[in-house]
Amino acid sequence: MIRPRRNRKSPAVRALVRETTLSASDFIYPLFVHDKETDEPIDSMPGCTRWSINGLVKEAGEAHALGIQAVVLFPAIAEALKTSGAEECHNDDGLVPQAIKALKAAHPTLCVITDVALDPYNADGHDGIVRKNGDDLEIVNDETVEILCQQALCHAKAGADIVSPSDMMDGRVAAIRATLDSEGYQDVSIMAYTAKYASAYYGPFRGALESAPKAGDKKTYQMDPANAREAIRESLLDEEEGADVVMIKPAGPYLDIISQVRETTALPVAAYQVSGEYLMIKSASKDGWLDEKSVVLESLTGIKRAGADIILTYFAKQAAEQLKK
Ligand code: PBG
Repeated sequence: MIRPRRNRKSPAVRALVRETTLSASDFIYPLFVHDKETDEPIDSMPGCTRWSINGLVKEAGEAHALGIQAVVLFPAIAEALKTSGAEECHNDDGLVPQAIKALKAAHPTLCVITDVALDPYNADGHDGIVRKNGDDLEIVNDETVEILCQQALCHAKAGADIVSPSDMMDGRVAAIRATLDSEGYQDVSIMAYTAKYASAYYGPFRGALESAPKAGDKKTYQMDPANAREAIRESLLDEEEGADVVMIKPAGPYLDIISQVRETTALPVAAYQVSGEYLMIKSASKDGWLDEKSVVLESLTGIKRAGADIILTYFAKQAAEQLKK
């Protein structure tokens, strides 16, 4: 008799036939940084912290020691530095360049990734430059792309290994690639937010950075959650424009997109388990209704099984600790 259960009969046999395994080197650890001396807990994301630069260096070091190879930085910019032109995003003495330099000095083997988008710096909270036409907001594409190029170059000069445009403007991967190449940063990689959906799951993150749009929403640049073919179109474009890694975001509710993009590109595919996915697991586990440790590994295994080579997750450090045991 054919008995599929024979392949499940013991931990040893299950390990032999296991199709998907997680390891700490699959993860990118997103970290928040601010320009204060203290480390502050983030109310909207229990267990996450807005780090001082010193705190950031220490946390990244602990994660690296657990086998995590990469971090991605998200800055909380002081309200007074936010402008409608987002000029602070390419200040060579700004918070992100300082954080990159501190991380690379302390942990030369750690891969430092930066987010390229205007929302933390933009007085309007949008990822691009906003033009107001009466009550209508237009997020201006080409003008934004020019600023994103300056931002990416600023991060490259500070020592970033990978820049990661999360803005969803058209043509930004090609423009950033050309800028980096012409300035001598041919070796700086681009991980593109390829299929970034206009998702309500980003709420807790916007709370962490106080970066929610002041007016309007992000639906004219982030993708419609109803669309899958469009993700493939974006992925083919990003590949053609010179992206080194394509990314799908969010992850858990978009596993079909991860697997379809996996089949249509030869590039590494990353997926971002976003703040809302994190908060749902944290909230449901708080009173013991879900077993947090098991659900964390199950959610990450699902994302990897769908086809992600790389997972951005706020659980990176905790999952790496669990995998060590
Ligand atoms: C903004 C950006 C966002 C996230 C990463 N970069 C929020 C947004 O697009 O509004 C969300 C991450 C998360 O929710 O964990 N460029």
